[in-house]
Amino acid sequence: MTRIIIDCDPGIDDAIAILLALASPELDVAAITTVAGNVSLDRTTANGLRLLELAGRGDVPLAAGCDRPLVRVSDRDASEVHAVDGLGGVSLPRPTARPVDEHAVELIARLAVERPTTLVAVGPLTNVALLLARHPAAAARIERIVVMGGSGVGGNVTPAAEFNAWFDPEAASRVFSSGMPITVVGLDATHQATLSAAEVERLGTVGRIGAVAAGMLRFSLDFAEREGREGVAMHDPLAVALLVDPSLVTLEQVAIEVECGLGPARGATIIDRAPSRLTIDYGAIVDRPRFAALLHERFAALGTDGLPG
Ligand code: RIB
Ligand code: CA
Repeated sequence: MTRIIIDCDPGIDDAIAILLALASPELDVAAITTVAGNVSLDRTTANGLRLLELAGRGDVPLAAGCDRPLVRVSDRDASEVHAVDGLGGVSLPRPTARPVDEHAVELIARLAVERPTTLVAVGPLTNVALLLARHPAAAARIERIVVMGGSGVGGNVTPAAEFNAWFDPEAASRVFSSGMPITVVGLDATHQATLSAAEVERLGTVGRIGAVAAGMLRFSLDFAEREGREGVAMHDPLAVALLVDPSLVTLEQVAIEVECGLGPARGATIIDRAPSRLTIDYGAIVDRPRFAALLHERFAALGTDGLPG
């Protein structure tokens, strides 16, 4: 069993990633930490709490992290992609729980020195960069960081940049150049990890939580259709799925540079395959059918009471 902490900005695909992790007996979700990104920190934090309660996992601590990127605050978020509430307009009950009274960076550092832990970072990397700066010794105890971010095939928030790298490029640069054991799934991989409308509808038939997931994903499907794309890319769930079944994603060794200038290429990630600098495992090929089957199987296992059946 792999002990993980999920640092995220729920966000529809973050929500699916969290629920997939909670439904997978191979993973022990030790904590959820939240960061500003898709929507504000207040909303990503409330959404994280809602998702834990939806899954009956109020036992998992959630800590809020940074409410803005390290250097430059943008006036854009991703509410167009995730709806203003961040969860596709699916109304989940207001959470009864509150975040723990500890900053996300402190919680990650404290848990990292307790037991071997993998950090799954599926939002902007602000919290992770601060962890490296504030608690380098604790960060060094982290077994692996699995990141959803970056792209070698152009951007999604701008023509040049993928959203998580774009929202906080300085943080992404700090993490990618850290020398830590890092696995990254960028758009090269996550654009292969799509669900069709029919697969989303099938997900909606596997129980209460599957129905909520399908409700959120219908918003994503509508957005994708407006953008002229078929199906919905499951960016963040792929980062979790590769921990559940590493055979789902073929990796290659690369280095990643991040453009931190203030021009139109800000947040672009240059994927460098020069043999002398290969430090990151980068997702190249995804077995989409088996990925989609895993998602369906795990949501079905969530049953109606929210716990793995
Ligand atoms: O580019 C996709 C990433 O940006 C995902 O993590 C999604 O949730 C958004 O944060
Ligand atoms: Ca995310």
